[in-house]
Amino acid sequence: MTQSNSRDRELRERAAAVIPGGMYGHQSVGLLPDDYPQFFERGEGAHIWDADGNRYLDFMCAYGPNLFGYAHPEIDAAFVRQLGQGDTLTGPTGLMVELAETLVRMVSHADWAIFCKNGTDATTMALTTARAHTKRRIVVRAKGAYHGALPWCTPRPAGVIDSDRAHQIFCDYNDVASLEAAVAEAGDDLAAIFAAPFRHDAFIDQAEPDAAYARKARELCDRTGALLVVDEVRAGFRLSRDCSWSRLGVSPDLSTWGKCLANGHPLSVMLGNEKARRAAASVYVTGSFWFQAATMAAALETLRLVRETDYLERITALGDRLRAGLDARARAAGFGFRQTGPATMPLFLFDDDPDLRKGFCFSSEMLSRGVYVHPWHNMFLCAAMTEADIDQTLDAAEAAFAVLKRQAPALGPVEKLAFLSGAH
Ligand SMILES: Cc1ncc(COP(=O)(O)O)c(C=O)c1O
Repeated sequence: MTQSNSRDRELRERAAAVIPGGMYGHQSVGLLPDDYPQFFERGEGAHIWDADGNRYLDFMCAYGPNLFGYAHPEIDAAFVRQLGQGDTLTGPTGLMVELAETLVRMVSHADWAIFCKNGTDATTMALTTARAHTKRRIVVRAKGAYHGALPWCTPRPAGVIDSDRAHQIFCDYNDVASLEAAVAEAGDDLAAIFAAPFRHDAFIDQAEPDAAYARKARELCDRTGALLVVDEVRAGFRLSRDCSWSRLGVSPDLSTWGKCLANGHPLSVMLGNEKARRAAASVYVTGSFWFQAATMAAALETLRLVRETDYLERITALGDRLRAGLDARARAAGFGFRQTGPATMPLFLFDDDPDLRKGFCFSSEMLSRGVYVHPWHNMFLCAAMTEADIDQTLDAAEAAFAVLKRQAPALGPVEKLAFLSGAH
């Protein structure tokens, strides 16, 4: 323990007593380098401060929700204004209708919206809606793709029984033959094909969607009557101001959104087309907090910024600058350093690094220089970042590569990631 992480250590000890496992889910730092802080105290713009007051340029953006900057003045003012008037009421406010109209105008395949809170609410609702629409059971989805944490889709097996996972067939992302085989196996029981905007699975290189794969998914749904679902929860509004597969000329029947929809305020949504409207109206979906008005006010302001600012072009340019700069520095230091995924959602992996010991060392060195990067999960850029931030990141990376070069021969295996060895 050092002076600079004493509060974090103390909180972890207390958490171990009152929070099972000390922390849970994707925000547990259990699979991150030991020096990564578990607890934070504030965020502003592109920066976060940990519980000990250390400041970081944050390339995780709360795992996606932070698109325009933490504590964004206009978005948070809209939230607070509505909070003063009423938030969780006996019914929704008119903001709900306004927000649905806004999304229907912005997202080309959408004719209607159903709001909820978490991405998993939306993806699960899409599954139920597809089954209600088709009166069939099977969903085809890509191996390793994350769609949430309920028993039907959680990546961990504990507490999950076979029937929770029944009626799902897995294919390989971007592999047309494997998709066709899965659909053939589903026979006349296919309810839906689920797809991520791009392959953004953890621990492996990311992959852009192949247009032929996207078109085949659409064609197979049209042929069988199943619904095509694009899960935009993670990538929404970081690739496009529309559903991201519209760039491939493919329109889904349903799309699911969350994370940055209200710039960090809790809101998610399932959007759908006319074909799926009746089924969507028939399923019983609700939650005590799904109609909160303040979050919807924040979402309207977030979507105004999506429409009216050049945030997407700016974060794409920043991502390109980061990628080119890292590439040059990694090459100069003699490392095979793979940067995959879109510029706005990059993932870094080193060549010859099966248990991520290089990735851990690099990330720790970045952290110690005030830059929070992730060694095995895709990252996120936000519109509060500047060219100066990217240049600071590149300076930190140059120093981190230099340290790694000196230490690489002596690095021991990362025991907590031993399960990865031989997996890829
Ligand atoms: C693609 C995708 N779908 C669904 C979810 C689930 O969202 P939530 O954690 O808000 O339930 C996530 C969360 O990371 C996601 O990345």
